[in-house]
Amino acid sequence: MIKLDLSNVLNEVIGIKGLNFYEIEESATKALTLLKGKKYSELEFLNLPYQDLKKVKEIGGKVKDYEYFIILGIGGSALGPKVILEALSPFHNLTKKPKVFIYDNVDPTTLKHIIEIVDLKRTLINVISKSGSTSETLASFLILWRMIRDKKLDVNEHFVFTTDPEKGNLRKLAEEYEIPTLEIPRNVGGRYSVLSPVGLLLAEAIGLNSETLLEGAKEISEKAFRENINENPMAVLASILYLMDTLKGKKIVVFIPYADRLKSLSEWFCQLWAESLGKDGKGTTPYPSLGTTDQHSQLQLWMEGPEDKVILFLSVERHNFQEEIPEEFHDIEGLRFLGGHTLEELMHTEQLATEMALWLNKKPNMKIIVPKINPYTIGQTFQFLQTTTAMAGMLYGINPFNQPGVELGKRLTYGAMGKRGFESEGEEVKNYLKRQRVII
Ligand code: PA5
Repeated sequence: MIKLDLSNVLNEVIGIKGLNFYEIEESATKALTLLKGKKYSELEFLNLPYQDLKKVKEIGGKVKDYEYFIILGIGGSALGPKVILEALSPFHNLTKKPKVFIYDNVDPTTLKHIIEIVDLKRTLINVISKSGSTSETLASFLILWRMIRDKKLDVNEHFVFTTDPEKGNLRKLAEEYEIPTLEIPRNVGGRYSVLSPVGLLLAEAIGLNSETLLEGAKEISEKAFRENINENPMAVLASILYLMDTLKGKKIVVFIPYADRLKSLSEWFCQLWAESLGKDGKGTTPYPSLGTTDQHSQLQLWMEGPEDKVILFLSVERHNFQEEIPEEFHDIEGLRFLGGHTLEELMHTEQLATEMALWLNKKPNMKIIVPKINPYTIGQTFQFLQTTTAMAGMLYGINPFNQPGVELGKRLTYGAMGKRGFESEGEEVKNYLKRQRVII
């Protein structure tokens, strides 16, 4: 089970910059009461561990017949799959099949490279969009749709849609062209959807067992409602980050896992935290980081820069491989001392030393401890962070499941690109472009 070490945010440890345990407890109890109130139907993500996997497994089994698997999606429809790929099958494309490409942007050069690499005859394309109306995803879908058709290939052999069960453009097309589809449950929002077919189809496609991811998540879903806060680290973490912001002015949360394989987990968490909480002038800014790498890039700022951060370490207790550092150059102390230790030991020591340095400087920091990286713990980690984020949102008194601030940009894009019904936004864009610029 994932654990949380909160020692270094307590006032008995870091003095006045820290929090009193009782205020954390009080806030955690409040978070729990709010969660139990089930105000939001989107808490449905907590039920994902109990879903029926029949269809995901069926389609996942077929993906293995293809040489290439392309995912088209963005935001919550891409970042979760990216974590599954990078954390659970690192360097996948160099050693395994199907080769996987997650195209989550509309950068034409990236798409060109992917198209040059894959053989479309042997490619399955998974278009992931809950709404079915995201411009980026639909643009790349249209390009690949045309290519598949130009090659006289059967669209229903080369596309799978993962989308809303009832609504949206993809749902309509799926019905018309008999495209296989997987459902994102109606009440599961994009950034809370990794444990739905959004992430699970990829998991199956690369030979992982979806059940194991869900087993891990289930443990968290069950613990989410526990009243004993010692058994509910999600409520505690949500409370600490909330109180650190509202009582201590810590406006930045640095998320720093110590494992290359979890680099994209940082990106995933930052999207989850930012898009869920940044509302009504509230929320804190998540910063994606990686240990040990960022010790040589950001640590100076965390140690001596503005007092506006909480550092959230994620430490992996057991790495999958133990590489021993050889004992060489006995007469050069700068090299000798490393010999006989393992890389894992060095990684742990680096994390510990960074944590201690922050503690000595009275900078609040916490540590999520993950026993190992495997499908079970990754499922746990997703659900742990999702539950924490949802609870933090409720403490802030905002809706952690919507994203109204993203809509305006989307509408302006529609207007500028000539979508019917968005003519006034199109005019606004034209007027904006006529404004005089100051460019030097
Ligand atoms: O969390 C969210 O809701 C967003 O990040 C969406 O996942 C993202 O905008 C993509 O939306 P859709 O899946 O509808 O294409």
